[in-house]
Amino acid sequence: MTANKPQAKIDSLRPFRLVKYFSFTGLGLVLITTIVLSWFISNHAKKVMLERSEKYSLLLAEHVNRQVFLQFVLPTVLRYGEIALRNSAQFKRLDTVVRNTTEGLNVDSVTIYDSEENIISYSTIPEEVGVRDKGGKEYESALNGVNSSHLISKASLLNLLTGSDPISTKLLTYIPFRRENPLSERTDDIMGVTKVVQDLSDDMEAILRLQLTIIVVSILIMGTLFLILTQIVTKADQINEARAQERRRLEDKLNQAERLASLGEMVASVSHEIKNPLGIVRSTAEILNKRLQDQAPGSKHLAEIIITETSRLDDIVREFLDFARPQVPQFTPTAINDLIMKLEGFMQPEFSKNNITVENNLATDLKPVNVDQNLLYRALLNLFINAVQAMPDGGILSISTFSASQEKKKVVIRIEDTGIGMSKEKLAMIFTPFYTDKNRGTGLGLAIAKNIIDQHEGFITVESQEAKGSTFLITLKHQ
Ligand SMILES: Nc1ncnc2c1ncn2[C@@H]1O[C@H](COP(=O)(O)OP(=O)(O)OP(=O)(O)O)[C@@H](O)[C@H]1O
Ligand SMILES: [Mg+2]
Repeated sequence: MTANKPQAKIDSLRPFRLVKYFSFTGLGLVLITTIVLSWFISNHAKKVMLERSEKYSLLLAEHVNRQVFLQFVLPTVLRYGEIALRNSAQFKRLDTVVRNTTEGLNVDSVTIYDSEENIISYSTIPEEVGVRDKGGKEYESALNGVNSSHLISKASLLNLLTGSDPISTKLLTYIPFRRENPLSERTDDIMGVTKVVQDLSDDMEAILRLQLTIIVVSILIMGTLFLILTQIVTKADQINEARAQERRRLEDKLNQAERLASLGEMVASVSHEIKNPLGIVRSTAEILNKRLQDQAPGSKHLAEIIITETSRLDDIVREFLDFARPQVPQFTPTAINDLIMKLEGFMQPEFSKNNITVENNLATDLKPVNVDQNLLYRALLNLFINAVQAMPDGGILSISTFSASQEKKKVVIRIEDTGIGMSKEKLAMIFTPFYTDKNRGTGLGLAIAKNIIDQHEGFITVESQEAKGSTFLITLKHQ
């Protein structure tokens, strides 16, 4: 039966561990999913933004081309015969046309490359005018009539978090600069390449902020859930632990009761068998004592030793029998304080002999409690005797009574001595039958007292400190 107990405990805990495991893993999975999802959402948003911006850029570049051709190329050729941007008047005119065309639109810069060599003929950024070989492969593709665009981006969540480098995202669109025919729209004659740069930093920052918000919010929600879950799990652990403790306590009690019952039977039969011969020995010794008084007065003390020792044995046997055959309590309303005073009166010679001062602190407002007077008297007697034995060099025995709990439904008797006290290990043993550290003890005193208090549905507890003393508390209920 005992071998199954730990197994049963493990079995009951296993489902709970699984729940715990699944809950935490579930939370982790949801968090990872949210982060991956936020990455997908923001990536999709980036893609949509890019597609729109690319379309917009293409339209814009074509618009710029058309306006430049109509408002600059045609009039200039008519007026000067050729286009020469080195001529500052021509350059200024082109600049005005470009700026008017792009005014109010989301354009960072406009650059026009020459078609004959990779050189910048015009740019809204003055420093770039005349710079060579900056076109790259997009320039080459545009010369072959293919539009292209690419993104230059320095944007990540880290930029947002640290705030170190500002987010910078630019979309560069290259389209061929064709000769426009005012009547039939466009020709295949490529005069150069137009590059339009759009600044998408604000849009990109908005998308990154959205991504960051999703991540932060989901971490916060998951964190809160995690905390709540941890609390629930801790609470459940505590409840489990408390239940396990309660079960252990009940099992111990049951074991003790089983042990006591079998022990009791054995003790009762042995004690019964000893009691009769003991009585005969004792009465024989008394007869012997009388005879020795007349015939050999010097040896009288030998008979007296037999008498005292048989009396002691008789007491022990009676104690055994009391313990082994617990009586059915007869409850009568009893003034606890009176019972204590009666016991103190009985013990007075012992107290005086051992230099023990008794201090009483008895509550005057105690209502009578339903107890078996004889049994409770015996329980208290055992505690008093123990206290006296714990103070071989004298000390103080403090007895208090008081009502406990708000409705004064409980009465507590407190027996405190200033004796030798007990270690923790000893404390754990003292209610076990036959546990004693005294030469002439039987170790039944506290076991009997506890049995009696249990019969009254009360509690007995003890606190003790080595070399300082012990305090026994008996709690009884009004029934
Ligand atoms: N007030 C106390 N101070 C210190 N130790 C105590 C006190 N009361 C009990 N003990 C310890 O608990 C043990 C068990 O006590 P218990 O009354 O059951 O048996 P006992 O006093 O040894 O023998 P007996 O059966 O004669 O009472 C004692 O041997 C003693 O070590
Ligand atoms: Mg004792």
